[in-house]
Parts: sequence; C-alpha cells; structure tokens
Amino acid sequence: MGADQVQVVRTTKELRAVVKDWRRAGDSVALVPTMGALHAGHLSLAEEGLRRCDRVVMSIFVNPAQFAANEDLDSYPRTFEDDMRKFAQAGGHLIWAPTAGEMYPEGFATRIQPQGAATGLETDFRPHFFSGVATVCCKLFTQTLPDFAMFGEKDYQQLCVVRQMVRDLDLPLEIVGCPTIREPDGLAMSSRNAYLSDSERKTAVAIYNVVSEVARKVEGGAEITAACRAGAADLAAAGFREVDYVAVRDAETLEEVRAASGRPARVLAAAWLGKTRLIDNVAVGS
Ligand code: PAF
Repeated sequence: MGADQVQVVRTTKELRAVVKDWRRAGDSVALVPTMGALHAGHLSLAEEGLRRCDRVVMSIFVNPAQFAANEDLDSYPRTFEDDMRKFAQAGGHLIWAPTAGEMYPEGFATRIQPQGAATGLETDFRPHFFSGVATVCCKLFTQTLPDFAMFGEKDYQQLCVVRQMVRDLDLPLEIVGCPTIREPDGLAMSSRNAYLSDSERKTAVAIYNVVSEVARKVEGGAEITAACRAGAADLAAAGFREVDYVAVRDAETLEEVRAASGRPARVLAAAWLGKTRLIDNVAVGS
C-alpha cells in the first residue's frame, strides 16, 4: 500500500478481524471518530492517537441519527478520496467506513438517551443530537474496542457527553480530549466552515473573539449573566443573524455557573451566520 493509500473496511466483521490480528501482535489501538471532510483538526486527533498507540483507526460515517429532518445530512461535505489520502499521509492505519445499513440494520431499535452533560446548550436547539451521537459512538467503541478514542474540544459538550457515557456504561476505553485547532485568525476549524461565503468567513471569527472576551471578563470577576448578554449582543452586532446561546458552564459537569466558584469553567457559544450554525468554546483562565 502506497503512502497515499490506507486500508478501508466496510463491515464490522472485517474491522474486528483486523483489530484482532493487531491485538494478537500486542498492538494498542486508538479510534478517531469522524464524519469525514477531514481538516487539520481531525488530523491532530489522528496524530494524538499515533502518539499513544501502535495503531490508529479512523471512522468516517456521516451519522443520520444525529441530524434532524431539517438539517444538513444531504449536503454535509463528503470527500472520501481526499480523506483517505490525508489520513494515510498522517500515518493512520485503517479507515472504518460502514454504510448506514451496516450501522443501523433493518430492525435496529436501541438508542442511548444521555442526560447530565447533555442537558441544555446544544440540546435546547438540537434535541435529537446527543442521542444520535451517543448511540453511534457507543457502537463505534464496541465495534472497534480501542484503548483510547480521540475527541476535539471544539465540540466541547459532545466531549463531555461521551466521557459521561463511557463512565456510566463502564465502557473499557479512555476518552482523550484534544485542543481545538484554529485558522490563523482564530476561527475554529470545522467541516461546516466550507458552507461560509467569503464575507461570512471574515465575520465568522467574531464567535471566537466573543467567547474569549467573555472568558476574560469572567476571569476578571465580571457578573456572568451580564458578560454573556454582552457577548450575545456583540455577535449580533458583528452580523450573526441569530444567537442560540452564550453561556458559562462547569468545565466537567457542564452545570450552569452563576458566580465564580473556583472550579474550572468554560464559555460556550452557538450562533447562526447566514445558513451556517457555528459553535465555539474556550476555557475561563486559558
Ligand atoms: O464530531 C463528529 O464528527 C461526530 O459527532 C461524531 C463524534 C463522529 C459522531 O458521529
């Protein structure tokens, strides 16, 4: 197999056979779950996997269960050939690319309904989302049985929900949270940035500036509700058409934080720029 090529498996049976051979040889295994359209953020997860393990599996599956009927499942960017090349060049070992029928066969009827870290924020606007994410991640974990799975802090609530699920269900792997990778101006890398027009792309960085500014204010002792309200107004003034939330939450439990408590906190925001919904977050005191 050349430097631009990587093995691809399409069935759980094939995946398990490959992983079983690696295990027999004593190799450790990392999983990087993705929906493809790879950018430097995904590749940094693969690199972290390679630092920790002998073998890295990347799943590429645009998961229908986490999209509502009015969302972008059909238009979500699909760049499989390019993704294979990038993952191979990064030194990855195997792409796990099931079809929807392989992941959710006829008669599939079990869904995970996470609570706790899944309460509020994204769930207030995408009520179906974390059930879809948790269900597919649980399946990806039990299909692959990795030692570690890498998740970006860019989707911070997702990271917390998956960590909680692994803890609650005693799944035998460790979740590794990896720092958000940003464009030179600070915009968090995301496959959905491809939807932005040139002028929206220039405006988009305001979401990073706003969460950073709210974090600075909270760190400096500002009143949290006022700082979040000012952040939302700044996003609207920058050209965002709708602000879903600007919030400060406990960095581990994602419970609401109304006043500084000494525990690590996170500022999270979601807002619409034209037809694109952007999310971002930073640590208070980072
Ligand atoms: O973050 C994503 O790309 C997806 O939500 C994930 C974790 C691959 C589950 O489909």
